Amino acid sequence: MIIRNENVFLLQTKNSSYFLQVLPSGHVEHLHYGKSILSRGQYEELLRADKEDKKIVLQMAKAMEIKHRHEGGNMIVYSPDHYPLCLEVMPLEMSSFGKGDIREPLIEVSHADGSLTSDFLFESAEILDDISKLDTLPSSYDDGQELKFNDETIDKAAQLVLTLKDKEYGLRLDLIYKVYPECDTITRTSVLYNDSQEKIVVDRLLSNQLDFQRVGLKLTSFHGRWADEMNMSDSICTAGKVVNEEISAGESGSRSNPFTMISGPDATEEAGDVYGLNLIYSGNHYSALSANGTFLSRFVSGIQPTGFSWTLEAGEKFEAPEAVMTFSDKGFHGMSVRMHDFVRKHIVRGEWRDKERPILINNWEATYFDFDEGKLLRIAKDAAKAGIELFVLDDGWFGKRNDDKAGLGDWTVNTKKLPDGLKGLADKINGLGMSFGLWVEPEMVNEDSDLFRAHPEWAVRIPNRPHSLGRNQMILDFTRKDVQDYIIDAMSKVFSSANISYIKWDMNRVFSDTFSRELPADRMKEFTHRYYLGLYRVMGELTKKFPKILFEGCSSGGNRFDLGILSYFPQIWGSDDTDAVCRMDIQRGYSYGYPVNTFGAHVSACPNHQTLHTVPLETRFSVAAFGCFGYELNLSELSDEQKKQVADQVAFYKEWRKVFQYGDFYRLDKYRFMAVSKDKSLAVALIFQKECRPNDDYLALRTMGLDPDKVYRIANRQVKINIKAFGSLINTMAPIHVKQNGIIHGMIDKFYKMQSEKEEITTTGGVANSCGVRLGPDYGGTGYGEDTRMFRTDDTRLYVIAEVQE
Ligand code: GLA
Repeated sequence: MIIRNENVFLLQTKNSSYFLQVLPSGHVEHLHYGKSILSRGQYEELLRADKEDKKIVLQMAKAMEIKHRHEGGNMIVYSPDHYPLCLEVMPLEMSSFGKGDIREPLIEVSHADGSLTSDFLFESAEILDDISKLDTLPSSYDDGQELKFNDETIDKAAQLVLTLKDKEYGLRLDLIYKVYPECDTITRTSVLYNDSQEKIVVDRLLSNQLDFQRVGLKLTSFHGRWADEMNMSDSICTAGKVVNEEISAGESGSRSNPFTMISGPDATEEAGDVYGLNLIYSGNHYSALSANGTFLSRFVSGIQPTGFSWTLEAGEKFEAPEAVMTFSDKGFHGMSVRMHDFVRKHIVRGEWRDKERPILINNWEATYFDFDEGKLLRIAKDAAKAGIELFVLDDGWFGKRNDDKAGLGDWTVNTKKLPDGLKGLADKINGLGMSFGLWVEPEMVNEDSDLFRAHPEWAVRIPNRPHSLGRNQMILDFTRKDVQDYIIDAMSKVFSSANISYIKWDMNRVFSDTFSRELPADRMKEFTHRYYLGLYRVMGELTKKFPKILFEGCSSGGNRFDLGILSYFPQIWGSDDTDAVCRMDIQRGYSYGYPVNTFGAHVSACPNHQTLHTVPLETRFSVAAFGCFGYELNLSELSDEQKKQVADQVAFYKEWRKVFQYGDFYRLDKYRFMAVSKDKSLAVALIFQKECRPNDDYLALRTMGLDPDKVYRIANRQVKINIKAFGSLINTMAPIHVKQNGIIHGMIDKFYKMQSEKEEITTTGGVANSCGVRLGPDYGGTGYGEDTRMFRTDDTRLYVIAEVQE
C-alpha cells in the first residue's frame, strides 16, 4: 500500500513501514524505515479509507520529523528562505554532492560549466498500481501475489515515483520505489534524465540511500575468494565508514557478494531488527554504512563509483540498478525468509521458477577434460539406474579444448571425443530416460582459438599494451553489438543442435585491462557497466528464445552470484568447493540472502578434489540436499554398495525435494539446517557432528518453524553401517578373533550391513520448537546397541518430520 496525504508518503508492507515527507525547501526527508508504524487494524482501515481519513499519517509525520531550531556551528545553512535548514543533520531520501550535506551522496555530476554541485528538489509524485521495468537492466516484477486480510481487504504491489529536479542545470531525477506487501520488501532505484541542452558526466548515480537516526549499527557482509565463498563478516559502525565493494573485478564477486545486512548489534537469528539489502546487478558494486558519530547513519549502495563515469548527452537518461530492502523485527531468520520469498516470486522467472529442479549428474570432477562418448555413457547408464534425471556434459566438448589453454570461442563439437556430435550423445542420454544438459562459457575467448584468430579486436585488451590473462583466457567485448549478436547466434545454434534441457553458463576470470575499441577515450569508464548491459541483452534474448531450458549461472563457482543473474537464470553453481564440510559454511552464507533453490550443490568424490578431505557419502548427500541437488563424480567407478546408496539417496530426495527446495529455510545453528513446507505439514532437519567427543551423547533436536498446535512424527533417515567402521572393536562381539582389515573382516563387511538407529518421536510443534526433542544416545565409547547413534566426526543425520493427521 502506498498512501499520500499532502506532502507525506507512507509505503506499507505486511510488517514494515517506509515513511517520508517533502520539506518546504523541496528536499525529501526520510522519516522511518523499519517496524510497522501501523497496527493491523489501522493498516486495514487505511486500505479502505478516503483522503480525509488518512489524516493520521500527517500526525505521525509531525511526531517523527527533525525539528530545527538553530543552525549548527560551522554547518552550511541551505538557504535564508528555509532558515535554519542544515542538510548535514537531516535524514534524507537522496543527497546531492556539494550543497551542504557533506555525507556520502547518492549522485555526483560534472556539469558542462565545470561545477560539481547539484541540488535536486521535489517536483511531483505519481503512485502506480503497475510495477514498471527498467529499459536497460533487469528489474523485479509483480507476479500478482496479494496480501489478504480477509475476504474484502487485500493489498497488492504498488509503485511510487518521486520526480526531483535540479532546476539550475535542467536535470531530472526519478526515485522509484516498488512495494511488495506480502513479502515485506521494498525496492528502490534512481533514473537520471538530462533535460538540458548540454552533455554532462555522471560520476556516480547510486540506487539506494537509507538514513537511520541512530549510530552503532552492524553491517554484515559476505567475503571470500575462489572456492571459499560467502564467509560472513560483521562490522559495527559508530563513526566513519564500513564498505562492502567490488572495485574492478568486473563481477559481483566472491570477494564481496552484493548482499548485506544491517542490524542492531544485539540481533539474533530469532529476534531483533534486521534489514536485508541487495542489488539487482552483476558488475562492480559499492555499499557503505557510514555514521556521523552522534545520531545519524547512512547506508548507500549501487554501481561502484571508482572506475566509473557516464557521459549523458542532452535528452538521454541513465538508469541505476534496482536495490532491494527487506525488513524484519524477527531477527536474521525473519529477514531471510522474506528475502527468499521475494527472490522466488519477484526475481526468478520463467518456466522453472516454481518447478522442482532435476537431480543431475555432471561429469566435470569425474573426467575433467579427459573423456569420450564411451566414458560419458558409462557414467550416464549408472546415473539412469540410480534414478538421476539429467546428465550434464561440462567443459571440453568443443573446438580444441583438451585443457584450459585453447578452444574457448569455438563452439563446434569435437568429433574426436563425440563422433556422433552433441545430437548423437543427447539422443543416447535421452534413450536412457534422462534429459541432457551442456556447459558453455560464451563471454570468453582463448588466444588459441579460431574466433580470436578471426576477430582479435573482439578480445578485451588495450591496443599496443601488454595484457594479463586469467585462466589463460580473455574476455570478449560484450559492450559491442556485433559481439553480442555473434554470441546470440552461436549459442542459438548450439542450444538448438540437440535436445538440450539445461545449460551451465560459466565465466571464469575477473576483469583486467578493460578497454573497448568502439568506445571513445573519454567514455572508457563506461566499459564495465556497458559490458553488463550487453550481457543482460544476450541473456534476455537467449532465455526468451529457449524458454524451456533450465539455465544455471556459474563463475568458477560463486564468483558472480547475484540477483542480476538470477533475473535470467533460476540457479547458480554455488562454489567449486564440493567438500561437504566447507559447503555447510558456504551454503549457510548464501542462505542469509538467497533461497536454497538458487544454488547448485553436488555430491562429489572423496578424498575431495579441493581439500583431500574424506567424509561419508551420507554426509555429502545431506549437505547437497539443501541446494539444487546433483552428483559430480564417476558413478561408474563406485562400488555396487555405493551405487545402491546413491539410488537410495535419489529416491529419498525425490520424495522430499519440494520441502528442501521450496520450504522455508532455517539455520538452527552453525551446523544444523531445517526446511519447513509453507503449509507447515512437512519438514526436514539436518544435524552434523563437527567433532565427536566420547561420553557426550544426549543431543536434542530443537526445531524452528513447526506449527506449535500441530502434532508431528519425527523420524531419522536410516542408513546402512559398515562393520569395518568399528575397526578392531568387532572382536568385542565376534566369537573368533577377526584381524582388522583381514580377509574375514572384509567378508563380514561385504555380506553384513548394520542398520543405523531408528528414532521415532511424536510430539507437538510447540514442544519441538520450544525445548526440542531428546534424541537417543550417540556412541560414547562404552557400548553400542540398536538405538545408539553412530555419530562420528563428519557424520550427519537427516530427520523427516510429518504432521500426524487425526
Ligand atoms: C569452472 C566451473 C566448474 C567447471 C569448470 C570447467 O571452474 O566452476 O564447475 O565447469 O569451470 O572448466
